[in-house]
Amino acid sequence: MSRFFLTTAIDYVNSRPHLGTAYEKITADVIARYKRLCGIETHFVMGNDEHSQNVYKRAIERGMDPLAYCDQMEQEFRAVWKQLDISFDDFIRTTEPRHRAAVQKLVQRSFDNGDIYDGHYEGWYCVSCEAFKQEKDLVDGRCPLHPTLTPEWIREKNYFFKLSKYRGPLLAHFAANPAFLQPDNRRNEMLRLLEGGLEDISVSRAGQLWGIPLPFAPDNAVYVWFDALINYAAAVGYGTDEALFARWWPADLHIVGKDITRFHTVIWPAMLMSAGLELPTQVFGHGWVNFGGQRMSKSLGTSLDPSDVAQRFGPDPLRLYLVKEISYGGDGDFTWERYAERYNVDLANNLGNLVSRLAAMAEKYRGSRLQPTGPSGRLAQVAEASFARYRAAMDALALHEGAAAVFQLVDATNEFIAETAPWTLAKDPANAGRVEQVLFDVAEAIRVAAVLLLPVMPKSCAEILHRVGERTPASDLRLERDGRWRAEGQREIAKGAPLWPRAEEIVEDEKPIAATQAAGAGTTPVEDNRISIDEFMKVELRVAKVLEAEAVPKSKKLLKLKVDTGTDQRTIVAGIAEAYQPEQLVGRTIVIVANLKPAKLMGIESNGMVLAGSPEGGLPTLVGFDAEMAPGSRVR
Ligand code: MSP
Repeated sequence: MSRFFLTTAIDYVNSRPHLGTAYEKITADVIARYKRLCGIETHFVMGNDEHSQNVYKRAIERGMDPLAYCDQMEQEFRAVWKQLDISFDDFIRTTEPRHRAAVQKLVQRSFDNGDIYDGHYEGWYCVSCEAFKQEKDLVDGRCPLHPTLTPEWIREKNYFFKLSKYRGPLLAHFAANPAFLQPDNRRNEMLRLLEGGLEDISVSRAGQLWGIPLPFAPDNAVYVWFDALINYAAAVGYGTDEALFARWWPADLHIVGKDITRFHTVIWPAMLMSAGLELPTQVFGHGWVNFGGQRMSKSLGTSLDPSDVAQRFGPDPLRLYLVKEISYGGDGDFTWERYAERYNVDLANNLGNLVSRLAAMAEKYRGSRLQPTGPSGRLAQVAEASFARYRAAMDALALHEGAAAVFQLVDATNEFIAETAPWTLAKDPANAGRVEQVLFDVAEAIRVAAVLLLPVMPKSCAEILHRVGERTPASDLRLERDGRWRAEGQREIAKGAPLWPRAEEIVEDEKPIAATQAAGAGTTPVEDNRISIDEFMKVELRVAKVLEAEAVPKSKKLLKLKVDTGTDQRTIVAGIAEAYQPEQLVGRTIVIVANLKPAKLMGIESNGMVLAGSPEGGLPTLVGFDAEMAPGSRVR
C-alpha cells in the first residue's frame, strides 16, 4: 500500500492561532483527507514551535513557567484544531524528549561531518522572525514583516553551519526535481537566491536557557529554526525509533507559508544532506490570507480568530471558503461580507437547497425510495467529467480547482432539475418511471458531489451522504470506487433540517473582531488593545438626523435609514429593527460613524454606521443627547 507523510509548519505559541495559520492547517487537512479517500496510508503531523524567545517572553510576562505556559497553549491550539476538524495523526512539540533527542542527534552528525564550526556573529536579529537579518533585508532599519519592532544588534560567539558548501548540491537538486518546490513562482524565487550565493548561517545562541543545548557545547542553545525544522524527522522517530523513521521518512510534502519557504528549501535540505538523510519529496509554499485587504498580524492587531469565524456558520463553510475562494499557492482575502455572500450562494442557495429539494420531491412523488427505471441521463457524463477534473486538480494541489469542479456538478444538477421539472412530469401518472429516474439521477449526482467534497467539508458531506442513501460510512469510502457514477441500486432518501439556513443579513456588530487574544481567554494585557488618540481621531463620529426609515425586505434585523449628516444626505442600513419601528425614528437625532467605507447589506449600499448600545442578548438602544444637537456636529 502506498504511503503519504504530510506536515505543516509548527506554530509559535506566543499567541493563539489566527485565520492565516488556520488556513495552512485546513488546506493541509484537505490534502490529508483526500489522500485517505484515495486509499493511501497517510501520516499527517502538525505541532507547536516552543523554543522561541517570544514564547519565553510571553510566559514570563504572564508570570508563568515557560513549559507550563506551553502546556496551556497546546490545549488552546488543540481546541481550535478540533473545532476546525483538523485530522492530524500526530502533534509534536519541540519541548518533548523525542524532539530533543532528534535535534541532538542531527546536530551532532552534522558537527561530526565537519559542517559546524565556531565563530563570532555580529549583526541584526529580528526576534519576531527569529532570524538573523542582513542590512539589505531591512527597510528603514526595520524588518518589513515586523515594522513595529526594532531589530536587535547582537554580537556573540556562535556556532555556524556550512550552508555555503551546499549551494551546488542544492542547485543540482532543484534542477533534477522541478517539483521539489511548488508553486513555480516560489521555485524561481529560491533559484535566484541560490544562484546569488549562500553564506554560512549561525546555528546557536550563546547563553540562552530556553532551548536545546548543543551536544558538543552545552552552554549554547540550538538556534530556534535549526531546532524547529528537525521536528519533521523527530515526529517519525529520528533518534528514538528507527523502525518508525524507516517507515515514514522522507516526508512526501511539507506545507508551509511563503515567508518560510527559504528555511524549508535551502536550510532544511542542506541540514539533511549534512546529516546524510534523504530530502523531502516536495515543499509547497502557500500564500497569505489577508483580512479585509490587510496583512494579518498579531503584532499589528489585525488578526482574526478562526474560532469566531467557525462559530458563524460552523467549520465546513469556513473550510470551503478558504479552499474554494483562494487559488492555492496565491494570496487571498477574507471579509465578513464576502464570507456571508459565498455561504449564501454556494451552500444555502445551491448545495443545501439541492439536498432539501431532492428529499422533498423524493418523498412527495416516490415515497422517499428511488431506483433506476431506465438509463441515466446527461448528469452521468457531467459527474464523470467533474470527477476527472477534480482528481487531476487535487493531485496537482490545485485545491481551489478541485472544489470548483464539484460545484460545476452541483450547478448542472440544479439546471437538470429546472429542465426536467419533475413537478410537471408528476402530474401525469404515466410519467412515474421517468420522475423516478430523474430523481435517482439527482440523488446520484449529489452523492458523487458529496464524496468528492468529503475532504473539504467532512461533517456536512457525511450528513449529505446519509440523506441520499449512501450506506458505507464516510471513513470507508474510496475515491475510485465510490466517487464515480453508479447507475444501479436502491436509495432511501432521508429528510432533515436545512443544512445551511440562509444567512439573512450581515449585521453591523459583525465587524472585524479586534486583535486575536493572546494566551488565556480574557487575559490579553490591556495595552495590546489600546489605540492612540491619532487612531481614534480617524474615526469620524457625527450627529445626524433621520429623515426617512423603512424596513429592509426579508430581514428581521435591518432598517434602511435616510439621514442628514449636516453636509449630505445618505443611506445607512442599521441592525436595529428588532428594537425600533421605522416611524419612531423619523426626526430623531442619532450618532453615526461617518467615514466608514460603503458596504452592501442585503443588496443595499450602506454609507456609515449607526451607534447603539448593544447589551449581550438584549435589544440595541440608540445613542442620544441630553440637549438639541445640530446634524454634522462632531462627537468625540
Ligand atoms: N514556527 C515557525 C515555523 C517553523 S516550521 C519548522 C512559524 N510559525 S508561525 O506561527 O509564525 O507561522 C505558522 C505558519 O503559518 C507558517 O507557515 C506561516 O507562513 C503561516 N502563516 C502565518 N500568517 C499567515 C497568513 N496570514 N496567511 C497564511 N499563512 C500564514 O513561522
